[in-house]
Amino acid sequence: MLIDLFSDTVTRPTQAMLQAMLVAQVGDEQRGEDPTTLALEQQVAQTLGQQAATFLPSATMANAIAIQLFCGPGDEVLSAENGHVLNYEAGGAAVHARAAVRSIPTWTGIFGSNAVLARLRQDSPHAPRPRLVVVENTTNAGGGRPWPVEELDSVASAARQHGLSLHLDGSRLFNAAVAMELPPSRIASPFDSVTVCLSKGLGCPVGAVLAHSQARAGQVRRLKQLMGGAMRQSGILAAAGVYALQHHVDRLAEDHRRARQLAEGLLELPQLVVERVPLRTNMVFFEVPDRHSPDQLEQGLAADNVRLSRMHARRFRAVTHLDFDDEQLEHVLRAFRRLMPQI
Ligand SMILES: Cc1ncc(COP(=O)(O)O)c(C=O)c1O
Repeated sequence: MLIDLFSDTVTRPTQAMLQAMLVAQVGDEQRGEDPTTLALEQQVAQTLGQQAATFLPSATMANAIAIQLFCGPGDEVLSAENGHVLNYEAGGAAVHARAAVRSIPTWTGIFGSNAVLARLRQDSPHAPRPRLVVVENTTNAGGGRPWPVEELDSVASAARQHGLSLHLDGSRLFNAAVAMELPPSRIASPFDSVTVCLSKGLGCPVGAVLAHSQARAGQVRRLKQLMGGAMRQSGILAAAGVYALQHHVDRLAEDHRRARQLAEGLLELPQLVVERVPLRTNMVFFEVPDRHSPDQLEQGLAADNVRLSRMHARRFRAVTHLDFDDEQLEHVLRAFRRLMPQI
């Protein structure tokens, strides 16, 4: 069987999760009549210290709706240069909100209040209007890093002082909370809106939730409808989310431990350059230096039923998750130890 470390999105629902989905109470979600969806939304809002929440098909849609809440034509979104909204959402800010995105240089995906302050602009008919700061926590391309709370607080306070709104792409917020040993609300509450994804570390097949203020609920509902995200008996999917919040949050610590052990094993191989250690969450990035062949590594791993994500020509990412256990970890490390001297 394939050991798939491509992403934490590859997990299949467990039997217990499927059972919860099977017995879910359902109704018409578009009409606000799906009890399981409503229960999930309430639970997420409460967990994040936000007033309200809306169940959506994907984190990409949640981010797209959030940007439209705060930005219109000619407005500007500030994002880390390696942020998901800037690089992997098909230019959604420009398409949906007709907003520009200004990137903040940072290889970790984390930036300080000075980076925000430096990007404020004079009010002028020539300039786009900075309106929104997007923070990604954990940072995906930044190595799965959780933001230090002091940094979050200082970015939030700088943004507030200058009238900018704040959106948290917390697709992996629960990874951050578990790694930092903080309640999710401590991480989420400084923000005007918060995306959490159910189909990554939490192991659901589909779904994300956008948390927001009560005052924004009508606008979010309208944008959900507009973008084709309104559903019918979505309680089947929401039930997976309710189950995951109860059973799959604390166990993220196991994914983090396995990622650490994987990185430690790879660090022993002189043919690889492991990046961004020490690791806090579930991602391991490494590079294959010039004198070795990344193609041969990829093919050799594939022959041994191991798949990673290849970010660039020589750069790989491995993401640990619910469907990756200690035995598989040993298998992957054995495969690397055997292959590396040959490539
Ligand atoms: C940080 C981050 N935000 C948003 C998304 C979008 O999630 P989805 O592909 O489920 O829409 C991803 C997906 O990998 C992500 O890593």
